[in-house]
Amino acid sequence: MSNDRFLKACRREPVDCTPVWFMRQAGRYLTEYRKLREKYDLLTIAKTPGLCAQVTLLPVRKFELDAAILFADIMLPLEAMGVNFELKENIGPVIHNPIRRCADVEALRVVEPEEAVPFVLEAIRLIRSELRVPLIGFSGAPFTLASYLIEGSPSRTFVQTKSLMYREPATWHQLMERLTQLVLEYLRAQVRAGVQAVQLFDSWVGCLSPQDYQEYVLPYSRRIFEGLADLKIPRIHFGTDTATLLELMRAASSEVIGVDWRIPLDRAWERIGKGYAIQGNLDPATLLGPWKLVQERTREILQQVEARPGHIFNLGHGFYPDTPVENVARLVEFVHEQTSSKEKARELL
Ligand code: CP3
Repeated sequence: MSNDRFLKACRREPVDCTPVWFMRQAGRYLTEYRKLREKYDLLTIAKTPGLCAQVTLLPVRKFELDAAILFADIMLPLEAMGVNFELKENIGPVIHNPIRRCADVEALRVVEPEEAVPFVLEAIRLIRSELRVPLIGFSGAPFTLASYLIEGSPSRTFVQTKSLMYREPATWHQLMERLTQLVLEYLRAQVRAGVQAVQLFDSWVGCLSPQDYQEYVLPYSRRIFEGLADLKIPRIHFGTDTATLLELMRAASSEVIGVDWRIPLDRAWERIGKGYAIQGNLDPATLLGPWKLVQERTREILQQVEARPGHIFNLGHGFYPDTPVENVARLVEFVHEQTSSKEKARELL
């Protein structure tokens, strides 16, 4: 591997410049991806190791990114559990047999990853053989997975999820228990296959109050991170709208916390504490604006960091499909250039 500044930043070690990667970096804003999607649907790509590797490597070959993220979807490991879903364009996952009662939870099978998702593990081995930057594996967090399983489709209010939580806490905890087992085994298998860091996506957890997070979610996320500790790889904990949950997310024990743009990066870092690395947090919508705006907002984030070790530059959430590729290319270059030791030395003169 020729570039390990991403892994160094996760460990809060000094780096020659700030590492950059993006959520949804292999997605519809890339012409090459859209072309491939004309021929294959997303799940076919994710389940065919050769195609999965090709798509994972697309953005890394195109831009000077410091990490690749495995191309997959958070729903993928749920299929072998008996969940029947489709990924609807511009909507997201739609589940045909949503979870409504205890019997639905009991019907979920936890299958060994080697048996449930052999294609993911094979893709990881293939990607690693070609990659010169670290490979990030990932999983949906139990709460975010549970919210899709219960709601049946993307939701704004998560009212079905909360109602199950409050009305049938035993069923909720049983569901979280099964998902925790699944996620932990899935991530451990990804590490065994070769991923060098993992990110737990709790994308929708920001809909919860701190009190509910602590009671219904934290014990499970913590068990996942603690269950990965012996593997000695950086663990990233990401969520959106988490400004009021950061101290609790820290308690789940990961090396890195990913934050979105709803909280300034420096305020988030103060709340999380200096002993942790931070990832974020440009609003992906900025990239739909003029380059000058992207530059301004990026500079603000980098100024807030004050060259402290332990920052990984990313968006606050994934790219929008109509993001101009030109802005992405310039952004990667700009972050590297603004934070490179040479640039820092020049400022001191
Ligand atoms: O580049 C990467 O970030 C890796 C690939 C990746 C995908 N999904 C591929 C994908 C990752 C990390 C995910 C995770 C994922 N999937 C999350 C967590 C991250 C987040 O965005 O919060 C969630 C909530 C999902 C569920 C999901 N799958 C949604 C909401 C959508 C979007 C629906 C749409 O059409 O906009 C999907 C589909 C999906 N997964 C796409 C991609 C690239 C969309 C493009 C396509 O259909 O080809």
